[in-house]
Amino acid sequence: MEMMRLDRFLANSGCGTRSDIKKQIRSGGVTVDGRTETDPGRKIDPGKERVILGGREISLPGKLYYMLNKCAGTVTATRDAHFKTVMDLLPVKQDDLFPVGRLDLDTEGLLLITNDGELAHRLTSPSWHVDKTYLAVVTGTIGASHQAMFEEGLDIGDERKTLPAKLNVIREEEHRSELLESLSCVMQEHTVKDTEAAHLKEISFVEVQICEGRYHQVKRMFEAVGEKVLYLRRVQMGPVFLDRNLSRGESRMLCEEEVRLLWEAVRRKN
Ligand code: URA
Repeated sequence: MEMMRLDRFLANSGCGTRSDIKKQIRSGGVTVDGRTETDPGRKIDPGKERVILGGREISLPGKLYYMLNKCAGTVTATRDAHFKTVMDLLPVKQDDLFPVGRLDLDTEGLLLITNDGELAHRLTSPSWHVDKTYLAVVTGTIGASHQAMFEEGLDIGDERKTLPAKLNVIREEEHRSELLESLSCVMQEHTVKDTEAAHLKEISFVEVQICEGRYHQVKRMFEAVGEKVLYLRRVQMGPVFLDRNLSRGESRMLCEEEVRLLWEAVRRKN
């Protein structure tokens, strides 16, 4: 296991806030392999060294599963030289956590983050075909002909056409205005330049469900039918839905039932 700071190890194990933990370490409340350790920055190997706090042996929790409401402008990576990463938005810092799949810099919404390699592999592998649902604001007037093309599969420049995808137009005023608000937020901050604002005269609000995870897939599918994605948000991955109580940039741990449903969705290959 990777070496980590003693204070971080204790924080990730749920022993309190980093500042409380530092105080406890400095006041002699923690032993490492039987010896009192007063340096919070001391590097330990969690797989080998025994850490005792308050008479109790401390260990890292096993598998962790987070749902993040990714905001535009954060990069889906564990580290990046220029941008804030999705990992910076989590309340914990743990080196073995990583994002499941990828959302573009300007895409928002549901991103799972875990240290469960097998589950992450299955959720993103083409062998399991886990459905992903996105809400989008796109240029043009989307209608039945576009739905048919998405259903048929599109040539987006890869070796194979895309697998059948569902495309529905969102008609509820409440959802349209919420998406429009998100679009204007993202426009001001990141993606759409003033010169592109002309596109906004004719726009559609859509829901797209795909069962693959190709690079820029949703954007390339709309490009293939002559349109452009202006705003994109993932709201569902397999059986798990984006929690509407999470504001942009917020996260929460998945509940046991959500983890169970995810495993159930990838138990058998399609
Ligand atoms: N499709 C895209 O084009 N971008 C994303 O971020 C996710 C799916």
